[in-house]
Amino acid sequence: MVQVTPFLLVLSLALVAPGFSAKKCVLTGRWMNDLGSNMTIGTVNGQGDFDGSYHTAVTATTNKIRVSPLQGSQHRTNQNSQPTFGFTVNWSFSDSVTVFTGQCFVDETGKEVLKTMWLLRSRVDNIKDDWKATMVGINIFTRLHSQRE
Ligand SMILES: *[C@@H]1O[C@H](CO)[C@@H](O)[C@H](O)[C@H]1NC(C)=O
Ligand SMILES: *[C@@H]1O[C@H](CO)[C@@H](O)[C@H](O)[C@H]1NC(C)=O
Repeated sequence: MVQVTPFLLVLSLALVAPGFSAKKCVLTGRWMNDLGSNMTIGTVNGQGDFDGSYHTAVTATTNKIRVSPLQGSQHRTNQNSQPTFGFTVNWSFSDSVTVFTGQCFVDETGKEVLKTMWLLRSRVDNIKDDWKATMVGINIFTRLHSQRE
């Protein structure tokens, strides 16, 4: 018994430690942000490009919210597999466009998180209103799991 315990400890460390260090942040899947907006990102192709859809929980307009397409690119994955990325949301229910930029992280608990900033461009009728046509913000996304774990 006395010799078995250190052996088990070493074995469990060997099994667990690589699991943590090898954990990657992968963009593909379903995500929800701090406002309750959801997005689905499809497969990231060999060039780093991806498509998806965005279901916002909030809008700067009075229009009825509709799911809107998004298109983006992920940068080559870095050493820690925590890639930078950007995407554009082409709003289906307004004349606005939002661009997001961010990085996919694995946090200290092993959970994936997307830290993003965005610019929302609204259409204005006159060039004189251009100064007030862009908003900026921050969103944090966590992965949505289809089933409870
Ligand atoms: C986002 O997904 C959650 C969980 O499925 C759901 O409860 C929520 O209503 C969704 N929000 C939007 C804006 O679709
Ligand atoms: C962008 O949105 C407009 C309006 O909904 C649509 O006609 C167009 O096909 C969309 N473009 C892309 C690339 O999704």
